[in-house]
Amino acid sequence: MSVNQSSVILSPEEKRRRYMAKGISIQNPVCITRSQGAKMWDDSGKEYIDFAGGIGCLNVGSTHPEVVEAIREQAGKLIHTCVHVTLNEPYLDLVEALCNLAPIAGETKALLANSGVEAVENAVKIARSYTGRSAVLAFESAFHGRTNLGMSLTSKVHPYKAGFGPFVPEVYRLPYANCYHCPFGESPETCARDCVQALESAFDTYVDAHNVAALIVEPVQGEGGFVVPPPDYLPRIREICREKGIVFIADEIQTGFGRTGEMFAVEHYNHLDPDIIVMAKSLGGGLPISAVVGKAQIMDATEVGGLGGTFGGNPVSAAAALKVLEIMERDQISQRAKQVGETSMNYLRALQNEIPAIGDVRGQGAMVAMEFVKDRESREPYPEFVASVSHKALAKGLLTVKAGVYNNVIRLLTPLNIPAEELKQGLDLLAESVRETQQELG
Ligand SMILES: Cc1ncc(COP(=O)(O)O)c(C=O)c1O
Repeated sequence: MSVNQSSVILSPEEKRRRYMAKGISIQNPVCITRSQGAKMWDDSGKEYIDFAGGIGCLNVGSTHPEVVEAIREQAGKLIHTCVHVTLNEPYLDLVEALCNLAPIAGETKALLANSGVEAVENAVKIARSYTGRSAVLAFESAFHGRTNLGMSLTSKVHPYKAGFGPFVPEVYRLPYANCYHCPFGESPETCARDCVQALESAFDTYVDAHNVAALIVEPVQGEGGFVVPPPDYLPRIREICREKGIVFIADEIQTGFGRTGEMFAVEHYNHLDPDIIVMAKSLGGGLPISAVVGKAQIMDATEVGGLGGTFGGNPVSAAAALKVLEIMERDQISQRAKQVGETSMNYLRALQNEIPAIGDVRGQGAMVAMEFVKDRESREPYPEFVASVSHKALAKGLLTVKAGVYNNVIRLLTPLNIPAEELKQGLDLLAESVRETQQELG
């Protein structure tokens, strides 16, 4: 057997169909060969503006020259030791940097891993070890990844859970404060924060609070459709966790590293002080790396050897992450996120006035989304509209990603240092695609 057996040269699409497992979804079926900043080029040389950022992994832009240089330098010195065999400098420097950066009061400690869901798994393990309890509270429309625990915490059934059971026991699900689709049928005027009450009631109807190890929450739901809770929601559930001795885990995998206009989304609140923050995506500037950062006494609750993994905190990924953090601070990436967010929000709100199918435009910082509905009264999801928009956008040279339990949301996760004219160009392409779809589908 040779590595390259085939004498027939297949196109990328043919190779995908022949060799890639069907379960791997590809939202933009083109083959990218080169990228820079917020631009990408495919194998035919066609140029795209990137509104997807590899699903929020490219906050400092794609193939950032300084990150590339840091990767090259580190790869020439040391690629791997495995932290369980020996220490290495990038690992140590990165845990130090993240502990100092995380908006968590008191002494903090950190663990590095490879992917977002691995960070989630580890955070739950740590919380269980610290509390001696087993149950975990998670939310409707949440997304926490694709491993068995990750998909058990995730609430979107298709395609993340269907056919993949049995799931992890002792995961209890609560309504999220989703004001556009209030689970209690209220409007902002009549809202009595039933969603906060639902957490209190859960301790009578679902699970004894004394058995709950952790509550895991996205400060803004990502995959769920960029759902931003009302300002007092997170502080109130955080307080309940504190009262009950439940470890409060903020999943900042998508919201982190400047995306919402603060380095971490929990910084929009005064001293929310999560016990643990899980981070990934934009940390590595495109390389796989994730982190669990938390209060030292919680992080240290596990037995030595209980945490880690062969590649977690690999020196090359860690060196890339250190450079990413340096660039973010120097270039004030959170400030850029505010500008990108404001421009995008204003643009899409104006478009909403013209397009009946845009039911909602919402977001925080540069985490901006449009939700498409069949009519504004019923708010019935319109996934066909989104499918058409992304198809048209791709043809015009714009990469997009969808979101929402019903796939009826387009979310913007563009690199945060996208030049103003490229952002405008991308928004124009998106608007053209929306207008054409409105004409075709109504
Ligand atoms: C909020 C959140 N948590 C967890 C994950 C899982 O991360 P990964 O795909 O790196 O495992 C994601 C990925 O989209 C995410 O958005």
